[in-house]
Amino acid sequence: SEDGYQLWLRYNKLTDAATINQYKAYTQGIVLEKESPTLLLARQELQLALQGLLQTKVTFSNTFQGGGIIIGTPSSSGIIASLALSDKLKATGDEGFVIVQTRVKNKPCIVISANKDIGVLYGTFHFIRLLQTQQRIENIAITSAPAIKHRILNHWDNLDRTVERGYAGFSLWDWHRLPGYIDQRYIDYARANASIGINGAVLTNVNANAQILTEPYLKKVAALANVFRPYGIKVYLTARFSAPVEIGGLSTADPLDANVKAWWKKKIDEIYTYIPDFGGFTVKANSEGQPGPQNYNRNHADGANMLAEALAPHNGIVMWRAFVYSNEVPEDRAKQAYNEFKPLDGSFAKNVLVQVKNGPIDFQPREPFHPLFGAMPKTPLMMEFQLTQEYLGFATHLVYLAPLFKECLDADTYAKGKGSTVAHVVDGSLENHSLTGIAGVANIGNDRNWTGHPFAQANWYALGRLAWNPSLSSETVAEEWIRATFTNNEKSVHTLKDMMLASREVTVQYMTPLGLHHIMGWNHHYGPGPWIKDKPRADWTSVYYHQADENGIGFNRTATGSKALLQYTPEVQKIYSSLENCPEEYLLWYHHVPWNYKMKSGRTLWDELCHRYYQGADSVRRMQQQWSTLKGIVDEERFQQVSSLISIQHQEAIWWRNACVLYFQTFSKKDIPSGLEKPD
Ligand code: GCU
Repeated sequence: SEDGYQLWLRYNKLTDAATINQYKAYTQGIVLEKESPTLLLARQELQLALQGLLQTKVTFSNTFQGGGIIIGTPSSSGIIASLALSDKLKATGDEGFVIVQTRVKNKPCIVISANKDIGVLYGTFHFIRLLQTQQRIENIAITSAPAIKHRILNHWDNLDRTVERGYAGFSLWDWHRLPGYIDQRYIDYARANASIGINGAVLTNVNANAQILTEPYLKKVAALANVFRPYGIKVYLTARFSAPVEIGGLSTADPLDANVKAWWKKKIDEIYTYIPDFGGFTVKANSEGQPGPQNYNRNHADGANMLAEALAPHNGIVMWRAFVYSNEVPEDRAKQAYNEFKPLDGSFAKNVLVQVKNGPIDFQPREPFHPLFGAMPKTPLMMEFQLTQEYLGFATHLVYLAPLFKECLDADTYAKGKGSTVAHVVDGSLENHSLTGIAGVANIGNDRNWTGHPFAQANWYALGRLAWNPSLSSETVAEEWIRATFTNNEKSVHTLKDMMLASREVTVQYMTPLGLHHIMGWNHHYGPGPWIKDKPRADWTSVYYHQADENGIGFNRTATGSKALLQYTPEVQKIYSSLENCPEEYLLWYHHVPWNYKMKSGRTLWDELCHRYYQGADSVRRMQQQWSTLKGIVDEERFQQVSSLISIQHQEAIWWRNACVLYFQTFSKKDIPSGLEKPD
């Protein structure tokens, strides 16, 4: 069935009669005066949406007949040029748009306009979203422009179509049949991205394969770029640092070596002959065994700048990742990226973004914001979130991630005093950077419903919406998605929103409450595994990250411990440094706490820990009950899929709870508090 495949672009008939009548006043037709590939897509989408949502035939024309919706730019539409929109349009840049209700030849109409064609497409999708979510459109006057310039998906896709940490099937990119065969999915993927403002796709895994840079593959990449172009999406690739050796026949990849520089320059020039608007590279270097400039005693800036210099004449960018740590040094992993990158502030070329994961460890259910945010004022820092649920139960757990994204974006770095939020670092406003970006590690594969779990689509959706406007609330984004994806039934919208908004905290409770982290199965990352004692890696200091012993549990990162907290501003340090004042959700991230410590609830730490684990697992049962009220309201197929998945989630929440409680009990040597059932 098509129900999952259509994502949030379902244009099923609206049910509210008054709303339909209101919208029908504008269905006389769509006016597009001058065509272009992107403008044709906008018109086609609008027609599809109106016809589906209103179940009425909508025609289009290139002249104004009276009424309807006019789309275009001032340079492609005489009507739009004649309207007094230029002030409003000025504020919308290359990608923003203006939607207004106005009168043309004394007839009421709606105008969707922008400076560039892509803005018209974004505006059209925005308008459609208003209809899908049954908003009023009379007297509409919307001006919108993206806060972030590069809104990108990172696909960790290998050339053999496996996806690293992918849980939704195999890679969408069918390298074998490219470039000759264009799968309809490429088009639908581009359309879905355009609908939420995503304008870039890094096609390949950060653990890169140099083969992607060879001619046969570049031709395949060019074919994808051709599909994506009218949707405003640029393609990027991951550059394996040792490519000059592996595919170039050189004996070194030293970034300061003249032959190496020449090789990259030639290679990059070649890429642009195939893909004239190629976006640039994402690079993972000297991390987890990947090659990089440090192999030649050079630093990250040397490596990034060498690539940046060759990309610059083509307007390409480098997204150099700060996810670096060595598992061979016995240093708190949370500190390593800051230690390596902070001293390089000011030494990166203008077209380099340093791409920083939201937290200092690795996409855990909860982490504090990364200490590099606010600490490198001279360098544009790009956010990296993870949509694929590597540490969040894969694609079987319902976890809506907007609250996790928002928690990080809204966190205050105090870098320039109060209000220096991570969002203001990333959107460039704090330090006046115009080069800005947000990336999400994609959760997309060739599963029929794209993301494995129907609700995981919401995380893809949220990434796009929040990259466009980081100040949107999790709730607004959830509600849009629910109405577009499932139903406008008010009661059900309420129930679904409740489930989604609670889901991240519920997951934290049954996996890693109170600031615990990195206690999953150490290899596959699925399910609990806090019992690593044999120290397979030096960075897993002591007994894994929870550091449990008979005195207590938690990782002391304060001045008396690993000192990771000292990487933050004094204001941030103050929030977390004392055991008494530290917010409980980060307690065990920053402190080693005695089992008998009195928590805010009045319980001991041990009792509180148990309560959180039990509460988490119980909340999944509640989620199950909530979902059961959707029977008959959502289509049977998705109803069944989600029902099965929540059952799995419930079993696994109990698995996490029992495993962690029983394991930590071997240190605390205390009973499970009365009132909580004994784990099986
Ligand atoms: C995690 C993940 C790896 C990935 C790495 C990265 O460690 O488990 O598969 O390569 O992050 O972001 O580079």
